[in-house]
Amino acid sequence: MQRRRFLQASAGLIGGGLLLPAQLRAGSAETMKLVASRGEHRFMAEQSNPTSVMFYNQSLPGPVLRIPQGRETVIEFANSLDQPTSVHWHGLRIDNAMDGVPGMTQAPVAPGESFRYRLNPPDAGTYWYHTHMQSWEQLALGLAGILIVEEKNPPMVDRDLVFAIDDWRLDHSGRLDTASLGSMHDWSHAGRVGNFITVNGKLDPAFDVAAGERVRLRLINIANARVMRLLINQPNASVIAIDGQPVEPYALERGELLLAPGQRTDLVIDMTAAPEQVSPIEIVIREHAYQVAHFKLAAKPKREQLLETPIALEPNPVNRIKLPSDFKQVPVLMQGGAMSRMPGAIYRGREMGMRELVQNRKMWAINGIAGLPAEPLFSVERGTAISLEVDNDNRWLHVMHVHGHHFISDLEPGIWRDSVLFQPRQRGNMRFVADNPGKWLLHCHMVEHMAGGMSTWFEVT
Ligand code: C2O
Ligand code: CU
Repeated sequence: MQRRRFLQASAGLIGGGLLLPAQLRAGSAETMKLVASRGEHRFMAEQSNPTSVMFYNQSLPGPVLRIPQGRETVIEFANSLDQPTSVHWHGLRIDNAMDGVPGMTQAPVAPGESFRYRLNPPDAGTYWYHTHMQSWEQLALGLAGILIVEEKNPPMVDRDLVFAIDDWRLDHSGRLDTASLGSMHDWSHAGRVGNFITVNGKLDPAFDVAAGERVRLRLINIANARVMRLLINQPNASVIAIDGQPVEPYALERGELLLAPGQRTDLVIDMTAAPEQVSPIEIVIREHAYQVAHFKLAAKPKREQLLETPIALEPNPVNRIKLPSDFKQVPVLMQGGAMSRMPGAIYRGREMGMRELVQNRKMWAINGIAGLPAEPLFSVERGTAISLEVDNDNRWLHVMHVHGHHFISDLEPGIWRDSVLFQPRQRGNMRFVADNPGKWLLHCHMVEHMAGGMSTWFEVT
């Protein structure tokens, strides 16, 4: 494998610089305030012409919100954009009315209006928040931030680092390529994949650490569509949580990690590297490894010996859910996209051929229906065990996300996820107890696929 720096040509221009995203912690006197607005951002430090973005609290990504587990936090959201929006709290098993899906759980928040989100998350862990309106545009322009639900008894670490990875499509001037927003080619292929990768909004930021330190690294893929293969390049890295939920800690194999859009992985790393050395974190794209961030080792080690105390998170309530042995089986047939054999689908209650579908910007279907159907995929009483029997019958990767619930899949046994990656033509199940009343989405988290029709919903009564 060859190693290169990302954007080699411009790399000389960019100073790394320590970057700590803005943090807001609940429990301080005021309630948290979150404001969506348009603004300007420079992707490269010495860029003369900034690009127009959408962000929360004028920060890209939005602030890291730290809220307590099992207690209510109020977030006052205000929309200062010129278009309606909403905030979805990705992965939280909260009240349906707070889920932030416009037209389903709330009215869109109009420009100049506000909405009060009350979050009472049962599970601790690493989550994120993002727009759930016109995501193919609003998310591509930056409307996402990080949400941490703090454990009552957090594990002892020397540092707790957030690592939000995003993927942007920039033009030759280094500004966001907005001309290609909504490109039908993107929608029918792999989604809007970019050419510029940032961590916490920066190109190749430095994270200051010291040898012997125990670091918690919260990795979050906030990109529209890019599936990321990351190389951590540290020998003592263990996975402690996936999609927010604690797992039995296990060592990262070959230091490699796959993160699809919306997914999170929490690592604990016992740092090993010589003083003042740089330890890169890389992304592999077509056999090349590009540095996307790096650890910068201090001159003095923190400890001579690595900590040997094992580390594990306390289980969340979700970890204790016992799945029964019979399930209500629900087929989920995913079809469409470029080079598909899908003849057509139902859209807005009417059968359409591919040509007419595409005129309506639809090219994906679940069970033969493009976009949100009038009737739910299923409607069940609270407490019913569901097994989504997914058949990804097309040539594309998809990351299927369920709102308001975590599930187990035979693709990754024993792991509670909220978003799972399906390979082309892969089949697999997603099993959970539908225990959260309300109307919930099930969709592909490659947001162009969602916009192109790959979304449905279910109801828990
Ligand atoms: Cu992260 Cu329906 O969303
Ligand atoms: Cu998809």
